[in-house]
Amino acid sequence: MTVPVRYELLHRCKDTAARRGRVHTPHGVIETPVFMPVGTQATVKTMAPWELSELGAKIILSNTYHLHLRPGEDIVKRGGGLHGFMNWSGAVLTDSGGFQVFSLSELRKITDEGVAFRSHIDGSPRFFSPESVMGIENALGADIIMQLDECPPYPASREYLRTSLDRTLAWAKRCKQAHARPDEQALFGIVQGGEHLDLRREAAEALVDLDLPGYAIGGLSVGEPKPLMYEVLAYTTPFLPADKPRYLMGVGSPDDLFEGVERGVDMFDCVLPTRIARNGTIFTSKGKLVLKNARYREDFSPIDEDCDCRVCKTFTRAYIRHLLKAEEVLGIRLTSYHNIHFLLDLMEKMRKSIEENRFLAFKREFYNSYGYTGQ
Ligand code: GUN
Ligand code: ZN
Repeated sequence: MTVPVRYELLHRCKDTAARRGRVHTPHGVIETPVFMPVGTQATVKTMAPWELSELGAKIILSNTYHLHLRPGEDIVKRGGGLHGFMNWSGAVLTDSGGFQVFSLSELRKITDEGVAFRSHIDGSPRFFSPESVMGIENALGADIIMQLDECPPYPASREYLRTSLDRTLAWAKRCKQAHARPDEQALFGIVQGGEHLDLRREAAEALVDLDLPGYAIGGLSVGEPKPLMYEVLAYTTPFLPADKPRYLMGVGSPDDLFEGVERGVDMFDCVLPTRIARNGTIFTSKGKLVLKNARYREDFSPIDEDCDCRVCKTFTRAYIRHLLKAEEVLGIRLTSYHNIHFLLDLMEKMRKSIEENRFLAFKREFYNSYGYTGQ
């Protein structure tokens, strides 16, 4: 059997667990560590695929939950799968819907069989099982597909986390069995276990036994203190094989990206850059900036003086502030473009710093400029 996704390790950081590598997929090579912009509805909000390409994005994430409810996986499949339907020639990863069912839908009921819920769009009753989710993800056609899992809330009792983890691990097995296209799409398992290190270890070891092409760490950045997330991460990654990609789900603030990379994570995704862009907040080398603030009314400088993206080379703070205040759609397109560029560029700089054995120095430099303290 051909392996659809293969990890190539290029260089290890001398001081930390950071690693510089490549993920080979049927839709191109991804240089890692990588940030994956989120395209929930088969679109990274406000961005055309050629703009994502222009920014150097090689992989985006989309969502089983949303695309199943609307337009339905059959339509996407007939449109050529996600790649053809949205005309994106890079790689795609689909999340399984477990997480979205818990954050968006109502009246959900989880059993060992699967999760019953009501659509957040029309209230219709639905059911996701590991088998049905594999069917949907096979039809959507992403290069990397995530197992159905349960992402427990924080805090949760150890007893609940124990039961939930057993279910997630059983679902991983069932997903592997039900996966109909294993030589075209790589199924990733998801390590859960909350803040309990023994559960995390058990989860990692059980998933590694399934010999999947990649492993994610889930159930983090769900309200726990950051130092706790970093501790769980540092503990968990050593139990994952060095020759497979590691993906930290739903994480993407600049500090969490650094701390994740430092602990051996290769892949990240987060709605943060595009979500804050839509309320007019942008990342800059000197920290976040809220463009609607009155102080930028007559500020004719670029939104980030250290940024070489097209938006920063073309427009001023005052102009983009005006667009945002007037609710002109170009405003949020420009802030989204800049924010995605900021994180992709940050990851590129991190990759270079790992190659050149100066990752920690680069991290310190960034934190000083951005205004992060601690760590
Ligand atoms: N996105 C962020 N966290 C998670 C998680 O724990 N599971 C899944 N499936 N998606 C996520
Ligand atoms: Zn910019």
